[in-house]
Amino acid sequence: MPVITSIDDLKRLYKRRVPKMFYDYCESGSYTEQTFRDNTSDFSRLRLRQRVAVDMTGRSTQSTMIGQSVTMPVALAPVGMTGMQCADGEIKAARAAEAFGVPFTLSTMSICSIEDIAAHTTAPFWFQLYVMKDEGFVDAAIERARVAGCSALVLTLDLQILGQRHKDLKNGLSAPPRLTLPNILNIATKPKWAVDMLQTKRRSFGNIVGHAKGVGDLSSLMSWTNEQFDPQLDWTKIARIRDKWGGKLILKGILDAEDARRAADFGADAIIVSNHGGRQLDGAVSAISMLPQIVRAVGDRTEVHMDSGIRSGQDVLKALALGAKGTFIGRSFIYGLGAMGQEGVSRALEVIRKELDISMALCGVQKATDLNRQHLLVPDDFEGAWA
Ligand code: GLV
Repeated sequence: MPVITSIDDLKRLYKRRVPKMFYDYCESGSYTEQTFRDNTSDFSRLRLRQRVAVDMTGRSTQSTMIGQSVTMPVALAPVGMTGMQCADGEIKAARAAEAFGVPFTLSTMSICSIEDIAAHTTAPFWFQLYVMKDEGFVDAAIERARVAGCSALVLTLDLQILGQRHKDLKNGLSAPPRLTLPNILNIATKPKWAVDMLQTKRRSFGNIVGHAKGVGDLSSLMSWTNEQFDPQLDWTKIARIRDKWGGKLILKGILDAEDARRAADFGADAIIVSNHGGRQLDGAVSAISMLPQIVRAVGDRTEVHMDSGIRSGQDVLKALALGAKGTFIGRSFIYGLGAMGQEGVSRALEVIRKELDISMALCGVQKATDLNRQHLLVPDDFEGAWA
């Protein structure tokens, strides 16, 4: 067993073990990837405030997200095609999250279906919904999530049209991969991935195949998005979905204080400050640099969560200190999944929990819920730079 000490260790293994097409899908931002890079580099502009001679016993990373108890405020983000990173990937990730005591969010664009996750887990999971033109499909997906016992609907608002990721086009990204010569040669160097994939029947978009009508090419996320996502999505349509669902609603992809206020007025249970991991509007600001402004804008009218750029427990600490009540990791758990399956997701969560815990101790903080801006050193221009 390799010694894993960081998310980066998992990423290195992941790169070796998973076909290039899926590694590239995970590791891309849109266009120039400026926002993708800023998401992580802006975290490193924040510094932690070292404190000494403070009793550091009795520490706890426990918290709540939308009223649900979590062993640390780090949920698994919805990630499309997770079941292509590793056979039955969503099931494995959901099981790791359940064992760890954090929420798992299933993407609409997953390989394993809502029903698959419900059949292989006992803890309620969260379902991420993309709004399609086909209302029948949307309503059925909501109903399926309800039947599966999902405890929150995460409605993504920043991907009604796809930001271009150059590598996906060049690689001909699809699920399952087409058996072209370059793909075959590359897959031949990933034997464990290939053997596991041959042994599962889950190799296409499980929430869509058999549930959607009139789509030209179901293997391609790009064509599905272009043909099916509803470009007219607005607050009236969001209200229709809220009413149809009737349960906890999280609005994902908010990056502007005005939109955040609107979401709070609307009564969202939480918002996720996010630029979709830098995969959508290239040139947008990093999520962490917008977080303080958005927290101020909504006050305590809705919970503020954030994703985009978290690769360590120190990053989680920084987000919590800037006012996030919860965080999400996407790539950080995908690296673990591709590297070592379910065990790798558990390792990723454990790495982050330990980093958070030790960093809290060295900042003189006993409870993750006590973190606040006092625990950070923030450069003067951190939020003002883009006013
Ligand atoms: C889908 O959510 C993607 O970012 O590819």
